[in-house]
Amino acid sequence: MMKTAVLVSGGGTNLQAIIDAIRDGRITDTEISLVLSNNKHAYALERASKAGIPALSISPKDYGSREQFNQALLEAVQRSGAQLVVLAGFLCTIPPQMVEAYPNRIINIHPSLIPSFCGTGFYGLKVHEAALERGVRISGATVHFVDAGTDTGPILLQKAVEVRSSDTPKELQLRIMQQAEWKILPEAIQLIAHERVHIDGRCVTILPAADEAWQPS
Ligand code: GAR
Repeated sequence: MMKTAVLVSGGGTNLQAIIDAIRDGRITDTEISLVLSNNKHAYALERASKAGIPALSISPKDYGSREQFNQALLEAVQRSGAQLVVLAGFLCTIPPQMVEAYPNRIINIHPSLIPSFCGTGFYGLKVHEAALERGVRISGATVHFVDAGTDTGPILLQKAVEVRSSDTPKELQLRIMQQAEWKILPEAIQLIAHERVHIDGRCVTILPAADEAWQPS
């Protein structure tokens, strides 16, 4: 059973997608051991309680310094026994000590096709506003591993979504969630839980499932 901590800041629809996928068997051998939010009002915390998952809020405001907050965040994740950390709309910078403690064991969902519309300042609706302003015809979502940079780690999964010229940022956000984020984030967790991901530098290879018969070429 792969223990997983899910870090959130807001509505938690991606958290819900993970909970639902565990319930209906699209994710197996995985348990959410902790939902942690930096915002005590995040609806994601309620989603966790409704699903009977331990939920905790740790706000930078509760600590004297960013360093103390970073330490508390890391300790909470470690206490949960997590083997994988999932950033599901977590809008705080991940401290370097967390990246060091979980090398290639932290994944993030980002609502664009990286390397477009990513990096510092690109989060939530801002990503979709920028995509619409640039007039792209296709956007989408990316699941990537977290390294020391912002949205710079190895890419695990991406899914493209059509952009319509009539889209508002909210309409585009919802279509990308429905058609991409809520699918590829559970898929990514399932691949990691079943050790089907090989990382070499920034290149990721997805290995065949154990029951996929080898075919001579
Ligand atoms: C999602 O669209 C996620 O991709 C985005 O925040 C939203 C959270 O929604 N994350 C980022 O922008 C990270 N850079 P949710 O709370 O309903 O899952």
